[in-house]
Amino acid sequence: MDRLEGRTALVTGAALGIGLAVATRFVREGARVVLADRNGDGAHAAAGELGRNARAVTMDISDEDAVAAAFAEVEAAGWAPDVVVANAGVQLFGQDAQAADLDLDVWRRTIDINLTGTFLTVKHAVRSMLPRGGGSIILTGSPTGVNGEGKDFTAYSASKAGIHGLARTVAAAYADRGIRVNTVQPAYTETPLVAAISEDPASRAAIIGRIPLGRAGTPDDVAGIMVYLASDDGAFATGALFSVDGGMTTI
Ligand SMILES: NC(=O)c1ccc[n+]([C@@H]2O[C@H](COP(=O)([O-])OP(=O)(O)OC[C@H]3O[C@@H](n4cnc5c(N)ncnc54)[C@H](O)[C@@H]3O)[C@@H](O)[C@H]2O)c1
Repeated sequence: MDRLEGRTALVTGAALGIGLAVATRFVREGARVVLADRNGDGAHAAAGELGRNARAVTMDISDEDAVAAAFAEVEAAGWAPDVVVANAGVQLFGQDAQAADLDLDVWRRTIDINLTGTFLTVKHAVRSMLPRGGGSIILTGSPTGVNGEGKDFTAYSASKAGIHGLARTVAAAYADRGIRVNTVQPAYTETPLVAAISEDPASRAAIIGRIPLGRAGTPDDVAGIMVYLASDDGAFATGALFSVDGGMTTI
């Protein structure tokens, strides 16, 4: 407890799933947290539940004006973030497809949110942190960015591999100015994102069968590593990829 006392964090995609679990854990660890989401009503409701150390901002990460406005809004309110978790993302199940069948619009929507949106979050996080001497930026990657985890996951896998590369380059570029950048890759984690798998017993059993620890991940499983990277415990970690995947990427 209190490992993040005195820090302010901004978490994207915090209305639901992993982002909400991270925001909740950060508040429990003593941080003030901005819950940023394109679902503004969901983010405001979640912030209301978390109490006075949480506030919400409506922000579509794929819209640079919205991202810039959200950072300006939180800075003006005295909530400039020391920690930014660029976590929001989508996976267009049933639309993402093998390359020859993949519609360009589905590719673009996935890349626009997952990769361009993460870049815009990182860009404005860096701009916000530089004058204050640095901070910690954490990106949510995926085993699909490392391995071929699903033959239909063409756009999603490409977007996540891009995130992993983005993190390494930004980490190297800003290390001398106090900014650390790391990627966390959860494996199959039961959130609304993966309802297409979790609500289909055969698909669920198949994916769990590929996780050596033998169960699905939970959003809380991901929150602990985020606390480490956000805190001084992670002071010497930058440019790295942290797996919280039940061993999935070992096989
Ligand atoms: N759940 C998994 O199995 C899993 C595994 C590996 C990686 N991830 C990644 O973890 C992250 C969080 O996933 P989740 O499972 O919690 O998903 P989720 O669908 O449960 O929640 C995603 C949140 O992001 C928000 N969001 C979506 N697009 C946005 C945009 N353009 N701007 C701002 N907010 C937006 C949604 O409104 C939602 O609140 C994603 O980047 C996802 O790719 C998830």
